[in-house]
This record gives sequence, structure tokens and C-alpha cells, in this order.
Amino acid sequence: MKVAIANDHGAVSYKNEIKKMLEEEGYEVIDCGTNTEASVDYPDYAKACAEKVLSKEADRGIVLCGTGIGISIAANKIKGIRCGLCTDTTMARLTREHNDANLLALGQRTMGIEVCKDIVHVFLKTEFSQGERHKIRIQKISELEN
Ligand code: RB5
Repeated sequence: MKVAIANDHGAVSYKNEIKKMLEEEGYEVIDCGTNTEASVDYPDYAKACAEKVLSKEADRGIVLCGTGIGISIAANKIKGIRCGLCTDTTMARLTREHNDANLLALGQRTMGIEVCKDIVHVFLKTEFSQGERHKIRIQKISELEN
């Protein structure tokens, strides 16, 4: 599985830890930056990660900022992106099973790294349920984009 990952200056350290973990586990990681703590604008990095997923260069995306809030709001403005900001593994499971989320958002200032790593594992390993009621709701989300 290929995973695109992107972050602002507030989450460089967690991005590096998650990237290292995934590479050691055999995932191919596309690092969309940023890789320094110089101030950047998180919408630019949400867009970079989203483009990798929408073009199918990556199967899933992970975006990080200080809280995960700004970068998830930005990602969810992009047509075709369903980004779930998850703070526990239950949210990670359900955003895959029910929302078929293609991006995961995490916050370096608000979450522990071990929790983030567990969330990443659940997010990447859980498949969409294919439930008809969930498909209808996801279709209605798509209609909101037009
Ligand atoms: C950057 O200072 C900070 O605003 C950002 O990382 C994030 O927390 C926004 O939601």
C-alpha cells in the first residue's frame, strides 16, 4: 500500500516518526513535506497530500498539523476527499467502515505519538464496510461538492 503524508511546521516530528514506522513495516511512503520548522500554511500541504490520493499515486493519505483541525478542514474542501480527524482507534475504524475516509488527520500538539501510531495502523488496515446505508450517505456527501 502507498501512503502519502503531509504536515505543516507544527507536526514535523510526528510525521517523521510515522513515516519511519510505516517504511519499516513495508509501506511505500510519499512525503509531501514540510520537512523544516519554518512556518508554512497547512492548506498547501493538505492539497499536496490530497492530490496524491486523487491521482491514485497513493492509496491513502495522512495529514498532520498542530491540532489536526486546520489541515483536515482544508483537506475536506477538496472534491473527492473525505478526511477524518481521529483521536482514538475507534474513530479511525469507524471513519474507514462508515465514511470510507481516504485521508486521516492527526495533531502533534494534542495527541500522544503512540496513540497516533495505533490510529494509523487501524486506519490503514480497516476496509470500508460496503454497507448500503453508508454508500448512500457518502453519495450525498459527494453531491454537496457540486
Ligand atoms: C500552526 O501554528 C497551527 O495553527 C496549525 O498547526 C494547526 O494547529 C491548525 O489547525
